[in-house]
Amino acid sequence: MIGLGRVGLPLALCFADRGVRVLGIDHDQGLLDSIRAGRMPFQEAGTQELLERVSAAGRLQLADRAADAAQAQDIVITIGTPSFSHLESDLSQVRAALDDLLPVLREGHAVILRSTIAPGTTDFVAGYLQKQRGLEPEADVFVAHAPERIAAGRFLEEISSLPCIIGGVGEASTERAASLFEVFGAPIVRTTPVQAELAKIWTTAGTCLRKDFVFSEERSNSPGMLLAVSRVNEAVPLFLVEGIKRRVGPLHSRKVAVLGLTFKRDTDDERDSLSPKLIRLLERELADVAVCDPQAPSPTQPLAEAVRDADVVIVATNHSDFERAEVLQTIAAQATPECLLVDPWNAFGGAELFGQLGEATATFETAAASQDGNQNAAPR
Ligand SMILES: NC(=O)c1ccc[n+]([C@@H]2O[C@H](COP(=O)([O-])OP(=O)(O)OC[C@H]3O[C@@H](n4cnc5c(N)ncnc54)[C@H](O)[C@@H]3O)[C@@H](O)[C@H]2O)c1
Repeated sequence: MIGLGRVGLPLALCFADRGVRVLGIDHDQGLLDSIRAGRMPFQEAGTQELLERVSAAGRLQLADRAADAAQAQDIVITIGTPSFSHLESDLSQVRAALDDLLPVLREGHAVILRSTIAPGTTDFVAGYLQKQRGLEPEADVFVAHAPERIAAGRFLEEISSLPCIIGGVGEASTERAASLFEVFGAPIVRTTPVQAELAKIWTTAGTCLRKDFVFSEERSNSPGMLLAVSRVNEAVPLFLVEGIKRRVGPLHSRKVAVLGLTFKRDTDDERDSLSPKLIRLLERELADVAVCDPQAPSPTQPLAEAVRDADVVIVATNHSDFERAEVLQTIAAQATPECLLVDPWNAFGGAELFGQLGEATATFETAAASQDGNQNAAPR
């Protein structure tokens, strides 16, 4: 496995746990040190225990050069594939790993791209190996795309249930990748490289979201529709700020508490989150912004401190930590009495994007009481 990030490390651990001998490779020494010390470098449900189990069994070896991967028969690439600021996927990390591998690749190797890639990239990789090393795809080397589609936070749950899509450059490549991934027991869907590439980028809902729109349109002659959709998403922070100003007036020196900094519910991944954009837009209105996110690696404030004397509270990420009566009670106790509650995720069940704190508290309490009532009415 080349690349032990949020995709590569959980996958390497899952393979190792199923009895596959795994060599995990990453050039980030800090990350390798953390894994060697038995510490997960990021949150992913259940993986800390898995790392401890796999390490104790000595099933995961580590290395720091992509070329070391040639020791294995099957080489799975899980490195970063960002997009450039214009309409193009940035394949520099993939190219660098392939260039390191080229001198040591030999007949019989399989190169399986697990990273998210734009349509045409699997065929490019097969062509690159043939051009640079004369290795004939399907005869000398096997090249396939087996995209990672798992939702962050649900890796261990979904690896054995979410259908595994495999698009090889030919049947032999598809079967070779399928024989590796079938160890997880999830249904395997065999298809072409381009369909596998598109299937991933059109599944997306995590930190890949922005770049997947770019990847979708990289080869379009008249790009527009999908990018326009992504721009609507990116404009939501502005929509919220304008809506707040219409309701509470100028934000100059008004206190706004932003709850949530990460991209998604119950993850610690801040990459490409729109919450920092929301905070910057509020700061440009000269508001006093306080942030609380118990999951984020960046330092933020405790809830009570963040919402103290707040004129506006915005739920920017719907962490389950926020969807509790205690959170509303803390806001009610600490924020100003006329505080505007902005809840685009409906975390508090009020079904109102811009609502008054008092109304939200009453709605939440009524909903909780009726849930309790239902439970009492139908005892198990
Ligand atoms: N994070 C997600 O939820 C998610 C979900 C589905 C798909 N993906 C895709 O999976 C891929 C990996 O994503 P990620 O979030 O794990 O990225 P990441 O940046 O967290 O991890 C990539 C790792 O690869 C290492 N690396 C890069 N080049 C290397 C090289 N030449 N040799 C050795 N190590 C190298 C980096 O040090 C890093 O640790 C991306 O294409 C991403 O789009 C991510």
